[in-house]
Amino acid sequence: MKNKRPYNFNPGPAILPLEVMQKAQEEFLNFNNTGLSIAESSHRGKDFEGVVQQAQEKIKKILNISDEYNILFLQGGASLQFGMIPMNFLNGKNADYVLTGYWAKQAVKEAKLFGQVNIAASSEDKNFSVIPEKFNFSSDAQYVHLTSNETIHGIQWRKFPDTGNVPLIADMSSDIISRRFDMNKFSMIYAGTQKNMGTSGVTLVILRKDLAGKANPNLTTMLKYQTHIEKNSLYNTPCVIGIYLTNLVLDWVLKQGGLDAVEKMNNEKAAILYDYIDSSNFYYGLTEKTDRSKMNVVYQIKDAAAEEKFISEAKASGFIGLKGHRNLGHIRASIYNAMPLQGVKDLVSFMKDFAKKNG
Ligand SMILES: Cc1ncc(COP(=O)(O)O)c(C=O)c1O
Repeated sequence: MKNKRPYNFNPGPAILPLEVMQKAQEEFLNFNNTGLSIAESSHRGKDFEGVVQQAQEKIKKILNISDEYNILFLQGGASLQFGMIPMNFLNGKNADYVLTGYWAKQAVKEAKLFGQVNIAASSEDKNFSVIPEKFNFSSDAQYVHLTSNETIHGIQWRKFPDTGNVPLIADMSSDIISRRFDMNKFSMIYAGTQKNMGTSGVTLVILRKDLAGKANPNLTTMLKYQTHIEKNSLYNTPCVIGIYLTNLVLDWVLKQGGLDAVEKMNNEKAAILYDYIDSSNFYYGLTEKTDRSKMNVVYQIKDAAAEEKFISEAKASGFIGLKGHRNLGHIRASIYNAMPLQGVKDLVSFMKDFAKKNG
């Protein structure tokens, strides 16, 4: 193995703080002085129950979440939530969806199986380079669904819409715990933990109790939110190692100074990368400045062959995961919480050098 770890710009599973992995390594054979690894510990034991409880408390603290909400750790990824939400809350009625990119589309596809979907706004005509500004919300919708950050298209909501009495639900998979937002606006948020909160295998669901109370009771046990609320996410065997890692990542976030400190750092990293792209006539951003993502920076080089070369030379120089999603192509630098400032600075130096040699 090389001495230096590469900078990991993968979209997810994504970079983890080094100290989190070192801590996990240190206690991998002996978790909490049990003499056992967390990976072989019973999910019914006191020690693991403690991990769940601690992680829930830290999430509440970091995101400023009131007791009106349940915090759940489920499985099946955000992809299962695309179906579970309409299964529980649509019941043949109608819901509003805002179409902002690939992931919002996936959510719409599943919802259509369980009721009527009204596309309240879409930026598809602009190749999902911007967040829509005008919404055609229905007053009788069961809920409004949006995707706070489109991981593939690289756009992110700055200000969330006011949906009045209609519950607002957001897929926050790729920007959870990266910035402050007002949870009171939302009835539910969900996120796979593999970007900013740990590794894959766990989906965080934060669900307001009043919405949970309206869920369809006639579903198979595992697909009812009520099951997981009643059993505090321990109805079936959860992803013990995933929840454990999330708990360690939350400690790291608190150690950084909490959400405000993390957000400040994310703003700084995104500004460094976008400022350089804006100033360059070799690299071009694919998204509108107003809505571009601070987590997934998507850009291109006009010459496709140079783009290929860029990705392979970047990899050889220790910058991995920069290839854009297969549906969009181009270049994508995912700069989640754990990406250090130096990683972004070094990437920009590499980009400058590459532009000089190939421009
Ligand atoms: C915004 C968003 N939603 C949903 C998903 C799907 O998540 P999963 O693969 O955990 O089901 C992803 C995955 O990258 C995502 O970025």
